Amino acid sequence: MRISVIGCGYLGAVHAAAMAELGHEVVGIDVDPVKLDALARGDAPFFEPGLPELLISARKTGRLTFSSDIAQARGAQVHFIAVGTPQKRGSYAADLTYVDAAVEQLLPQLSPNDVVVGKSTVPVGTAGRLAERVAEHGSGAVLAWNPEFLREGFAVKDSLTPDRLVFGLSPEPDAAARGEQALREVYATALADDTPLVVTDYATSELVKVSANAFLATKISFINAMAEIAEVTGADVTQLADAIGFDVRIGRRFLGAGVGFGGGCLPKDIRGFMARAEELGRGESVAFLKEIDAINMRRRDRVVQHVIDALDGEPYNKRVAVLGLAFKPHSDDVRDSPALDVAVRLKGLGVDVRVTDPEAIENARRIHPQLDYRETLDDALRDADAVVMVTEWDEYRYLDPAEVAGLVANRQVIDGRNSYDPAAWRAAGWTYRGLGRP
Ligand code: UGA
Repeated sequence: MRISVIGCGYLGAVHAAAMAELGHEVVGIDVDPVKLDALARGDAPFFEPGLPELLISARKTGRLTFSSDIAQARGAQVHFIAVGTPQKRGSYAADLTYVDAAVEQLLPQLSPNDVVVGKSTVPVGTAGRLAERVAEHGSGAVLAWNPEFLREGFAVKDSLTPDRLVFGLSPEPDAAARGEQALREVYATALADDTPLVVTDYATSELVKVSANAFLATKISFINAMAEIAEVTGADVTQLADAIGFDVRIGRRFLGAGVGFGGGCLPKDIRGFMARAEELGRGESVAFLKEIDAINMRRRDRVVQHVIDALDGEPYNKRVAVLGLAFKPHSDDVRDSPALDVAVRLKGLGVDVRVTDPEAIENARRIHPQLDYRETLDDALRDADAVVMVTEWDEYRYLDPAEVAGLVANRQVIDGRNSYDPAAWRAAGWTYRGLGRP
């Protein structure tokens, strides 16, 4: 199929490359010429394992091109809208400026048999509104919604072999049939492999996405709330998570207590969901998400407090090594990163913070040039009065406490991801502080 992908950010770039890899002819469209040049060369503009290889492989087939000219979308049968929907400034709501602009620019390029497919995460009701706009324009094109569930760090795998597909279709039977047929053709490979498919209406497809992220956020904050209780009772939240996780109805995944969730999705999606529910007169239905957000933010305070305690209550001018800046490992994304937030808060308390990360230094420096960035782990650790690990990259997770003990001034470690074996660190002479662990 001939496909256009409007928006070549995280979602769009990976989706465009994956579609080309699966045999489609794809043009990726974006307004940023620097990003487009990089993509066209096979350079991923952000760190994502496997993406450079995928771009190069897709480019070799000649099926993947990039352009800043929306007119290049003409001739494609399926047009994916994959632009961002960030949190609005000064509000919880999602900013739909980019989605609306992408659709408006696409309208003059559409032919009667085309299908416009929304992929961006949007407030429920957006697809219906955009479908009306597409119909009103009179090209004869129809709209479908196809939410995306890819995780940063696993985006290539998630795009090539998704764990499920959701098609949100028009209430008009003809438009629904055209949307479904086009999407079945786009995802023929995954469907032939028996990937579960849910064919539904617009509203359900939009809600599937935000409710999935709300559920994941709730799971993380639930275990972090248990960590708060563990902290005052002497219990160990990691053992508690193991024990409840053996119940298959609960499951151990996403029960990792620590500094909490961040990134470009979970925080803004739960806030956007609250704002939309409020507009719909159902604010109370998701009011618990406010608590989920609050529990999450309190975990950052707790990590900072642990550092202050490790410095005997006198943080001023003390050297602290902050291991990690990305919101999670295998990513260079620092959007709403708990790790970066902890570093900035410590800096604000007068701490001499030395921060490091294998991939995210450049992105972090752009937003917070005031931090002292160290390219190597040793450099960050040298003479530290305390060490705080906030992103569980393997190189931090598997640190040998005996080996690094000689580098620091004081053996104080704060395990912001509950990744370490406290006994091993204590045996090497460290004072260990985890989150919700004795
Ligand atoms: C999330 C969802 O997992 C994807 O399914 C979704 O497609 C994506 O958002 C999106 O909306 O585009 P992502 O933001 O890449 O994916 O990251 P996650 O793996 O969900 O992690 C989110 C945050 O939760 C990270 O900061 C991570 O460190 C934290 N986390 C995760 C925990 O604190 N504890 C855990 O047990 C798991």
